[in-house]
Amino acid sequence: MKRLTVPSIRARKGGEPLVMLTAYTVRTAQLLDPHCDMLLVGDSLGQVVYGLPSTVPVTLEMMAAHGAAVVRGSYHAVVVVDMPFGSYEASPEKAFESAAYLLKQTGAAAVKLEGGQAMAPTVKFLSERGIPVMGHVGLTPQAVNTLGGYGARGRSKAEADKIVADAGAVAEAGAFAIVIEGVVEPIAIAITHAVACPTIGIGASAQCDGQVLVAEDMLGLFDRTARFVKKFDDLAGRISAAVETYAADVRSRAFPGAEQIYAPKD
Ligand code: KIV
Ligand code: NA
Repeated sequence: MKRLTVPSIRARKGGEPLVMLTAYTVRTAQLLDPHCDMLLVGDSLGQVVYGLPSTVPVTLEMMAAHGAAVVRGSYHAVVVVDMPFGSYEASPEKAFESAAYLLKQTGAAAVKLEGGQAMAPTVKFLSERGIPVMGHVGLTPQAVNTLGGYGARGRSKAEADKIVADAGAVAEAGAFAIVIEGVVEPIAIAITHAVACPTIGIGASAQCDGQVLVAEDMLGLFDRTARFVKKFDDLAGRISAAVETYAADVRSRAFPGAEQIYAPKD
């Protein structure tokens, strides 16, 4: 199967919903890839993989290392790598350098960056120079220090209007798709109707053009429980049970058994 392309993703506006999950490692990428249109190497790896308190400390080098692993573990999905906090906000030129570094190091096809009207010139600068950009509006976790937390956005009219304007600006600037995170549903629907590119919802609406979740969240592997996460399995529970059995088998000398040991030839 040939790998999907960014233009083919963009062309899916209003069609069959786009399926996206995060992946940070090669094995996860291998397992998710056949079922997904896009894999996101999210800077959520800061919390999920590294135990950091937010995505703010995540570095370009971390994103490059995990992005390369995910590209090596996939052959079908479009791989999108998050630009980490501090690597793109200062200027379009700085953003281009950072994004080019990520694409060169990883082989990924696109980057994602957070922000609205203020980032629109950067989205345009990159898009016109060969770097497809996915936008990200609404609850933007890299702005946790200005937002003051991870609560849903757009409950007031003024905030709702700003998010809709942000999405419009990013779409107008050439984003090939836009993540809408953690907003009251009417905003997600309004944006989806207003912009020409696909919208990817997370804590948004089933009417978005696609959905994304952190794989560890939907698999029940991570201990965070946002309202918008549906647990499709309980891998944490399964891992605990397997490790409990292993520990008991080691202590009772039931493991290793005959099939796991090497017998001499004669
Ligand atoms: O970093 C991430 O995982 C994300 C998605 C949740 C959209 O940005
Ligand atoms: Na992210």
